[in-house]
Amino acid sequence: MTNTASLIALSKAMPKTELHLHIEGTFEPEQMFSIAQRNQVTLKYATVEELKAAYQFTNLQDFLDLYYQGMSVLIKEADFYDLTMAYLQKVHSENVVHVEIFFDPQGHTERGVPFDVQIKGIRQALEDAKQKWGMTYQLIMSFLRHLSEESAFETLEAAKPFLDWIDGVGLDSSEVGHPPEKFAKVFSVCRDLGLKITAHAGEEGPPEYVWQALDLIKVQRIDHGNRALEDDDLVAEIARQQLTLTVCPLSNLKLCVVNDMVDHPIRTMLKLGLKATVNSDDPAYFGGYMNDNYQALIERTQINKQELYQLARNGIEGSWMETAIKKQHLQQLDILFDN
Ligand code: HPA
Ligand code: ZN
Repeated sequence: MTNTASLIALSKAMPKTELHLHIEGTFEPEQMFSIAQRNQVTLKYATVEELKAAYQFTNLQDFLDLYYQGMSVLIKEADFYDLTMAYLQKVHSENVVHVEIFFDPQGHTERGVPFDVQIKGIRQALEDAKQKWGMTYQLIMSFLRHLSEESAFETLEAAKPFLDWIDGVGLDSSEVGHPPEKFAKVFSVCRDLGLKITAHAGEEGPPEYVWQALDLIKVQRIDHGNRALEDDDLVAEIARQQLTLTVCPLSNLKLCVVNDMVDHPIRTMLKLGLKATVNSDDPAYFGGYMNDNYQALIERTQINKQELYQLARNGIEGSWMETAIKKQHLQQLDILFDN
């Protein structure tokens, strides 16, 4: 076997965590059409092929416009269950052992789908996957940053009866023009409620937004973080705090955050001592799930065995799973890599 082929085989076999995944971004066109039909909703596209042909993005907003359209067919608890279960089944077959899933409540409440309908469907699928396969999970409620802080507070109110089911809060959607400081108050309340905190920062937004995520939102993790590399002091601070970056290679390529996978900065991040991890973001839209992301890195950026190990290790260490379970996965990883 060539070195590339053996690294790809290793990446498929290793126990993996997914720390940056929007459940609404796992909506495969075939399933979208099937749920649309059962809910008697008409999509803007006539066929699966037509819809897939529209998946050409030049920036984040291009994608988000389609992402919100797609999720609009989700209406009933069973829709959220089926969506989540299809994703979990897929990544279970890829040796993903732990998932931390974002959902966007405001993307649904805005259309009249109550909070409880969403979370009950998603949570039941997560619980079933845990029962069936021992797959562990964390559920992260994400605020849409193009909406107001008041709307985020309303969402937090709707979430109150379900706080036992919610592990953390995040911040996503259109980044530029919506800096973390806009949400400083609501995240402060979330912290006081004991919720874990993460935020998308530095995907398209400048290093200043990453600083704000650190200083004002007090994130425990950074989603993406690519543009942090433009600021040496920021890199040093992220390394000092040992903050995990949830990097999404195929997403970065599809949304033109990088022009070519060859130029992806993930190896640079590792060299700088940053805790980079590999994740799929919105796999149904970006052309690949977890293993495809690793494969693209192996084929195009020449990551070596040590870097592959480090990425998988960072994913386990940077997750919010229990320490005892982390240890088990790390042991398994060491055995697989002959460490
Ligand atoms: N960035 C911002 N918001 C999002 C993303 C993303 O990559 N995916 C889904 N919502
Ligand atoms: Zn994301």
